[in-house]
Amino acid sequence: MLELKEIQDKVIYDQAAIEKAVKELGRKISRDYEGSALLLVGILRGAYVFLSDLSRVIRIPHTIDFMAVASYGDASTSSGVVRIETDLRQNVEGKDVLIVEDVIDTGLTFKQLKKTLEARHPRSVKICALLDKPSHRKVDLKPDYTGLVAPDTFLVGYGLDYLEHFRGVPYIFSVKPGALEPLQAAGKLL
Ligand code: PRP
Repeated sequence: MLELKEIQDKVIYDQAAIEKAVKELGRKISRDYEGSALLLVGILRGAYVFLSDLSRVIRIPHTIDFMAVASYGDASTSSGVVRIETDLRQNVEGKDVLIVEDVIDTGLTFKQLKKTLEARHPRSVKICALLDKPSHRKVDLKPDYTGLVAPDTFLVGYGLDYLEHFRGVPYIFSVKPGALEPLQAAGKLL
C-alpha cells in the first residue's frame, strides 16, 4: 500500500494557487470563445480533475467530451505516435475544439492529436494545459492557454499520478528523491 507521506516532498502548487490559475483560464476562455460552439476535450486520465474545475468556471455555453490515448514506448523513448484508446462521442465538425491537458511535456501527444482532430474538420483546434514544462519540449509548441509554467521536476496530484496513485490529491507536489527510482524503473521519467 503506497502512503502519501512516503513519496511527497514539497508542495509546489497549493489549492489556492491552482484555483487562481484555473479561474484565470476560465475567464480568458469565456471571453475568447464567446458565441462559438466550444467543445472541451479532456485527455484521460490526467486531465479529469482539471477539466472538472475548468468547466465550472467557464461562463459560456460549452460541451465536454473525452479521449484516451496511449503513446508507443515509454516516456523517455516517446515516439510521438499516439494510439486512440477511447475516441470522442461527439462529432467535431464545425466546432471549436479545446483540448484540455493536465501537463504538456514533449508536446508530442498534442501534435499528433491536433493532426488527428483536424482531419475531422472542426472550426479550430487549440490546447489548454494547466501545467507547461517547456524544458521537456521535443516539438515547437506553445500552448494556446497555460495555467502555470512548471519546474523540471516530477509532479504529482490534481490528476497527475505516481504510478497511477495520488491523482485525487488536491494540490501538486514533488516526490522525494528516494521515490524517483520506481519511476525510473517504470520508464516514467523524461
Ligand atoms: C500525460 C499528459 C498528456 C501527456 C503529455 O499523460 O496527461 O496527455 O502526458 O505529454 P507529452 O507532451 O510529452 O506528449 P500520461 O501519458 O502521463 O497519461 P495519464 O494522463 O493517463 O497520466
